[in-house]
Amino acid sequence: QGRFVPARTVVLVGLMGSGKSSVGRRLAQRLALPFRDADIEIEQAAGQTIPEIFATHGEAHFRDGERRVIARLLEEPVHVLATGGGAFMDARTRDAITARGISIWLRVDLDELVRRTARRNHRPLLNQGDPRQILAGLMEQRYPVYADADITVDGGAGDVEEMTERVLKAL
Ligand code: S3P
Repeated sequence: QGRFVPARTVVLVGLMGSGKSSVGRRLAQRLALPFRDADIEIEQAAGQTIPEIFATHGEAHFRDGERRVIARLLEEPVHVLATGGGAFMDARTRDAITARGISIWLRVDLDELVRRTARRNHRPLLNQGDPRQILAGLMEQRYPVYADADITVDGGAGDVEEMTERVLKAL
């Protein structure tokens, strides 16, 4: 039985804490494809961490860089790409992902997102108030847009291995 190779880059979208990076890394291993993490690529291109970019240049500047970096990554050979939670909300970034990739939304409920994001405090958008309230607001804004992804997968239950398995089945 031959190895399944997706025709286009598999792009993981979803809120902070939905598991895009950890599932993406595991998925790439399972598919024997390279893994890229847009947030890390942005930090490398900018020579700054994401909190530093937000603090010194603001979110709009971050989104410009994010759009350029994702456009560049989508030109690369087929791979697995984890994006930051806001990437799919940018119309031009979303169009590029839709045109060149297979988008997968990891859908996770609020309680689980709160639990998962409480572990590390490196996300500027969650440092501006009560994380639960912020995440609830982002869910309301973003879930209708994330729903435009090609595939929706339940990212809330099970460990990374189980979530990866679910994505593989859905592909
Ligand atoms: C953001 C999510 C972050 C990062 C930035 C903004 C967002 O990525 O891109 O802090 O707007 O949701 P993760 O979803 O990987 O945490």
